[in-house]
Amino acid sequence: MVTEPSRPSCEAMSRNRPCLSAQRWSPRAFDADKPVSPAQVLALLEAARWAPSCNGDEPWRYIVWDKTRDPAAWQKAFDCLAEGNQAWVKNTPLLIAAGATSRFRHNGKDNRWAQYDTGAASVSICLQAVALGLAAHQMGGFDAQKL
Ligand SMILES: Cc1cc2nc3c(=O)[nH]c(=O)nc-3n(C[C@H](O)[C@H](O)[C@H](O)COP(=O)(O)O)c2cc1C
Repeated sequence: MVTEPSRPSCEAMSRNRPCLSAQRWSPRAFDADKPVSPAQVLALLEAARWAPSCNGDEPWRYIVWDKTRDPAAWQKAFDCLAEGNQAWVKNTPLLIAAGATSRFRHNGKDNRWAQYDTGAASVSICLQAVALGLAAHQMGGFDAQKL
């Protein structure tokens, strides 16, 4: 008999510290009436800032579009998304683009870990979202040239 693998219970992983990884998932339904506050945005970006990186280079760069603060800018970012994503992203209050620099700051040499580090920082954002009672859904379906 084949059974679905169950997600590890938070309690099993740690009694005192809830396991954020097991609570994280990628929803496709968002509440248009619930904005993300500036303090929450800051907490999300802080989570990325504390992520580990090769040589402490912190190669990640994030652009944030907040629908509440600047709907026109949010719309421009939204227009770069694949159609399939637009269908469910329309109600999200916040869009964040992740990018990575390609060279180390201290010597200008190629940083081949930059994308790895940026992925780690982005997961930190997703986990921080869980900790804040929010949800994040990562997307590769967008037109990077248009953005
Ligand atoms: C790099 C990357 C790109 C993704 N691109 C999309 C996307 O374009 N559209 C989408 O709906 N989900 C996208 N996802 C979300 C995945 O489909 C989702 O994480 C996966 O199905 C696992 O589900 P879970 O996050 O709920 O555990 C992407 C995830 C990652 C990490």
